[in-house]
Order: sequence, then structure tokens, then C-alpha cells
Amino acid sequence: MAISDEPKADNSKVLRPYSKKMQKLLSRGTYNAGKRPSGHKIGQSSFLKNNGGAISHNVLEMEPINPDAEVRIPGSAFSLSNTTSTDFFHAECKARGITPHPARIQPRLVDFFVQFLTDPGDLVLDPFAGSNVTGYVAERTGRQWVSIEAEEEYAKQSFIRFEDPELKKLISAPEDTESDS
Ligand SMILES: C[S@@+](CC[C@H](N)C(=O)[O-])C[C@H]1O[C@@H](n2cnc3c(N)ncnc32)[C@H](O)[C@@H]1O
Repeated sequence: MAISDEPKADNSKVLRPYSKKMQKLLSRGTYNAGKRPSGHKIGQSSFLKNNGGAISHNVLEMEPINPDAEVRIPGSAFSLSNTTSTDFFHAECKARGITPHPARIQPRLVDFFVQFLTDPGDLVLDPFAGSNVTGYVAERTGRQWVSIEAEEEYAKQSFIRFEDPELKKLISAPEDTESDS
């Protein structure tokens, strides 16, 4: 249920790359049309429209469960290491003798929902911000943000995030934060 008749949620903003099989099908331009055992009728052009990517699964694919499977992160998600132990914030905390927040959320996960549910310029609120991954992601993707954190220690260390050279680069030359599709 949405609190508006026109909810902002738009899964076309968080499409993930097509599978190799789908890419082949699109470039081939032909499809094995006909009736399936399920009874569904598949037309000649049913799957030939290139929508710029596939709709993401309900459960985000952060790492493959099956090591042979292809990981397909939404194209709009900015590229960050899956391991938060090697990012700028973590490295800087370590260099300054600061113990980083122990329950930091994966930035890609925040990024997915920020892009899925909001537009650039919108306001993103995190009332339990911790080390403020949410504010950092919002800043990177051109949203405004308000973050609240009860523990002064965590609020203070969150400032380190905004010293990230990657972020400074983006602010001086903003990237297109919307999906290309
Ligand atoms: C799970 S952590 C959030 C971690 C954060 N997502 C990150 O990536 O760093 C929850 C945070 O909520 C804070 N908190 C708990 N109760 C609060 C309250 N009433 N007001 C503000 N912050 C609160 C805690 O201090 C804790 O840092």
C-alpha cells in the first residue's frame, strides 16, 4: 500500500544487466515462438524489446550463492567493493585509531533503495544513522539528506565519509545518477 496515488517506486531505475542468454536473444532478433507446455503462447516478438535491462529480483544479489552464477548488480548502483572493510571510511578510521561502527550497512543496498524510491533532489531521512552510510549514498546520488544518530562517537566518525576523494570528485563533476534505460 502506498500513501500516495503516484508512488515514486520505479523499478526501471534499478534494472540489472541482461543475462548473457538474453543479450544473445536480443542481438539474434528471433525467438522460438509457440505454445509452451504451461499453455502460455509466446509470440514472435514477445521478448525482443530491449528495455535496457532486467527487473531486479526481490532479494538483492550481493554475492552469488552459486559460485558459477553470474552476478548482475543494477546498472545504476555505483561501483563499490562488496567488502566494507576495504573502503575509504574503514581505512581512514583505522589510520586515525577510530573503531568504526560495528553494524555498517552495505552501501549498495542503500543505493538500491535510494534510487528505486527517490529522485535526485528528494530528501532522504535515516533516523538511526550510525556511521551515516545513508547520508553518504544520498550525497553521492544527488539527494538531500537528514541523518540522526544518538551516539556522539558514531555521529563524529561519520564526518570522515565526506572526506572521501571519490565523493569530492562527484560533487565537483556530478555524474548522471539516473539509470540509462
Ligand atoms: C544498526 S545501527 C545503524 C548502522 C548504520 N546503518 C550504518 O551503516 O552505520 C543503529 C544505530 O541507531 C542508533 N540509535 C538507537 N536508538 C536511537 C535513537 N533513539 N535515536 C537515534 N539513534 C538511535 C544506534 O546508536 C546505532 O548507531
